[in-house]
Amino acid sequence: MGQILNQVKRRTLIAGNWKMNGSLATNAQLLDDIVVASSEANSSSEVLVCAPFVYLSQLQEKLMSTEVRWGSQDVSSKKMGAYTGEVAASMLSDFSCGYVIVGHSERRAYHLESNELVAQKALRAIESGLTAIVCVGETLEERESGQTNAIVSAQLKAVLEVLSDDDLNKIVVAYEPVWAIGTGKTATPEMAQEVHADLRALIAARNMVVAEKVRILYGGSMKPDNAKELLSMPDIDGGLIGGASLKAVDFFAIVNAA
Ligand code: PGA
Repeated sequence: MGQILNQVKRRTLIAGNWKMNGSLATNAQLLDDIVVASSEANSSSEVLVCAPFVYLSQLQEKLMSTEVRWGSQDVSSKKMGAYTGEVAASMLSDFSCGYVIVGHSERRAYHLESNELVAQKALRAIESGLTAIVCVGETLEERESGQTNAIVSAQLKAVLEVLSDDDLNKIVVAYEPVWAIGTGKTATPEMAQEVHADLRALIAARNMVVAEKVRILYGGSMKPDNAKELLSMPDIDGGLIGGASLKAVDFFAIVNAA
């Protein structure tokens, strides 16, 4: 089955996740550097930057006339209304966001986001014309107790359950082992490939055509020196990059490795 699934060519996506970093001034410099690096890049990959909500207009202004896309790191599970502090998917569309990250492990851990809530967020994003980057990943304890597949499958299944087959074309999956995020520890390419193949098989059980097309990114200390090896695996279709996305040279070294 893996063989058939891997015949389709998927465009690599390299997505930066700035997390809660930056300022108007430092972003201006970083975005200028990104624009230059993008114009010089030797890659057919799609490049995306996900910033804090308040800076989306800055991204829109700086990136509008470039090949680089932009998006947010979260979205409300509600459509509109009395939800103080929340940001609706339709508002992200106002700033021409193409993507939104949902279910990042930092939101699952620090804001107690459940699989069901993450699924609602993905649905809201897609309704507003955005692509949802659905993050899944296990903790070290879960990996060591042999639960990796059960955990990531449950996380992805919750999203598959609320989306139509058509909606499924508008998701990207990001496998981010929690123990590898921001730690400098990376899953080996073989470890990551195994999980990616399992995730693709889970989608194939629902819809084979979608499974062949869906992009599955790896995240968790992807850096210029390990990107090539990870991205050469058949089911790794890109990266979700935290730390290394804060410097244009590192970020584009990854883009150029793809
Ligand atoms: P990292 O973060 O590259 O700093 O490990 C990845 C992520 O959390 O998206």
